[in-house]
Amino acid sequence: MLQYRDDILHMNGVSLLEIAEEVGTPTYVYSFDTLTRRVRTYRQAFPHALIAYAYKANATPAILAHLAHLDCGADVVSLGELQAALAAGVPPDKIVVNGNAKSDALLLLAARAGVRALNLDAREEIPRAAWAAQTVGRPLTVNVRINPGIDAKTHTHLRVGAPGSHFGIPPEDVLPAIRDIMRTPHLRFRGLHVHLGSQLLHPEDVEAIARVVAHWVRTVRQAGYPVEEVDMGGGLGIAYTEEPALTPDRVARLWAPHMRDLDVRWVLEPGRWLIAPVGVLLLRVVQVKRAWGRTFVAVDGGMNVLLRPALYGARHRIWPVVRGEAVEPVDVVGPNCESADVLGRDYLLPTPRSGDVLAVLDVGAYGYSMANRYNLRDLPAQVGVWGDTFALLSVNWLPRQLPKGLDRSGGLA
Ligand SMILES: Cc1ncc(COP(=O)(O)O)c(C=O)c1O
Repeated sequence: MLQYRDDILHMNGVSLLEIAEEVGTPTYVYSFDTLTRRVRTYRQAFPHALIAYAYKANATPAILAHLAHLDCGADVVSLGELQAALAAGVPPDKIVVNGNAKSDALLLLAARAGVRALNLDAREEIPRAAWAAQTVGRPLTVNVRINPGIDAKTHTHLRVGAPGSHFGIPPEDVLPAIRDIMRTPHLRFRGLHVHLGSQLLHPEDVEAIARVVAHWVRTVRQAGYPVEEVDMGGGLGIAYTEEPALTPDRVARLWAPHMRDLDVRWVLEPGRWLIAPVGVLLLRVVQVKRAWGRTFVAVDGGMNVLLRPALYGARHRIWPVVRGEAVEPVDVVGPNCESADVLGRDYLLPTPRSGDVLAVLDVGAYGYSMANRYNLRDLPAQVGVWGDTFALLSVNWLPRQLPKGLDRSGGLA
């Protein structure tokens, strides 16, 4: 998907330099061909599961429409995401609603739309869900989100299934919660949900999900309650640098021995694995500072456009858009007034100059969706690439008066 042609980085058939010149920077660029391929790979591994794409990873409307066209469902966690899923044409019976603090408005719209399932995050949510169902006069189907009590080997901020986490229903409350649901008019119990965390790379963590789910399906059935469906959550990681990663097919093989005889329908909620490698972020070098024996390359977007390095200590590959011979180690830093605003240290890049364009790789997930307006900067633009054509998906400027004779290309943003 990314390759140099005559020393210029291309996404499929499109020059990323041309996009930077035409659209400006910072700009996210997504390959729709890669997205299609990744959805197909995922589906081949789980041919009978509903793939409910996790909107939090990237909810850009053109991407959502493409995924709906590829017959993906939606995992949503807010009123805005539910509205986006309905607007993208996702049938309500392919939408699952997650979250530990669902607003009344989200509960009401979920009930009125008739979503596939609301994944209950707390026993305390049961009367609230019942209220929404009663208010709109339509029964609501619910799953119980189990906190599996597993300490996954991922960044602490990405770990949500560990003991003490504020997500999910702890083991001792699972059966009482199901009993409460069965006794509650307007609610229909369908099954179980688990989500261990994100950027999972270790086979033992991934396998643990199936082991826990299989245990709970049997336990709940032994207690006399039916389990029709299991929602295995998302979390499959990707290799941002050199780390060994799992494939969907490998996950399917890890799960098979545990799940084979359970006779349940499956829902999966992948976000990162589907969309992260689809996107790059184009940034322009504003200024190069040599100090303290280091070279600081200050670019025109940092934690405001890509929060992951500051929030999770994440490291992304950064490539020059125009390849050069001599390289030197540099620190790539953002423009915001925070010491944490560092995209990464010790990158080997061609001797940098103001105006150079850099590409940050694998930013399709949790990139634009976490972008913010810190320091009153504009949101980045977004561009879609199909084969050798591209189109603007969203713009990066807000209407604002600049002094006469100045334009935005000179690092003024
Ligand atoms: C409930 C739930 N499902 C799915 C996801 C998507 O995870 P990922 O993008 O790692 O696949 C998340 C994100 O952490 C989540 O909280």
